[in-house]
Amino acid sequence: MLGHYPDEGTAAVLELPASPAYNCAVTFVIRDFQPEDFETLWRMDQECFPPGIAYSKQELKAYVRHRGVFTLVAADAKDGIGGFIVAHEGPTGHIITIDVIAAARRSGVGSRLLQAAEERLRSGGSRAVGLETAVDNLAALAFYKRHGYSVVRTWPRYYSNGVDALVMKKALL
Ligand SMILES: CC(C)(COP(=O)(O)OP(=O)(O)OC[C@H]1O[C@@H](n2cnc3c(N)ncnc32)[C@H](O)[C@@H]1OP(=O)(O)O)[C@@H](O)C(=O)NCCC(=O)NCCS
Repeated sequence: MLGHYPDEGTAAVLELPASPAYNCAVTFVIRDFQPEDFETLWRMDQECFPPGIAYSKQELKAYVRHRGVFTLVAADAKDGIGGFIVAHEGPTGHIITIDVIAAARRSGVGSRLLQAAEERLRSGGSRAVGLETAVDNLAALAFYKRHGYSVVRTWPRYYSNGVDALVMKKALL
């Protein structure tokens, strides 16, 4: 998750093989964010991250409205929104955040969101994608490694709660 005071740095991109295919949760449809989704997404972010890392409404609103940013939502007709991803397009794309509700985890929702965002970035001309994650977020680290991301550097005390961030990158071939 992008911290409150982003700094992209100049870390090198590692060339990595494409991530393997997943058995995805079939009930979720990936679609573009609609303004009426905002409150749900913000509440999900509050549940997904600890205080000091979760975004304020103003921060999340600024990210989703930012030029060059797109937000994808995983929605199920029965249960509603199960997750979302916010990403920034560019020569090196950036995953700003990805959030999956606890009840929907380990069923492929995060993978579908990440793969859809990577595809959007790739078709928009991005040749690589980067992100930051807290060093103690072991689930996120395992998730990103499973998807072919590698740690390229550490940002000490990156988050406002004093936790270091790992910068991870992946080539989009
Ligand atoms: C990280 C996160 C997005 C993963 O979403 P998800 O829908 O559970 O991920 P998937 O089901 O697609 O998992 C794909 C693979 O990632 C790895 N993985 C995901 N969560 C894991 C966990 N808790 N422990 C170990 N490996 C994990 C596994 O290899 C998994 O494959 P498997 O289930 O076949 O073993 C989700 O845990 C989340 O929203 N966490 C809170 C918010 C957060 O930390 N976001 C990342 C911020 S940078």
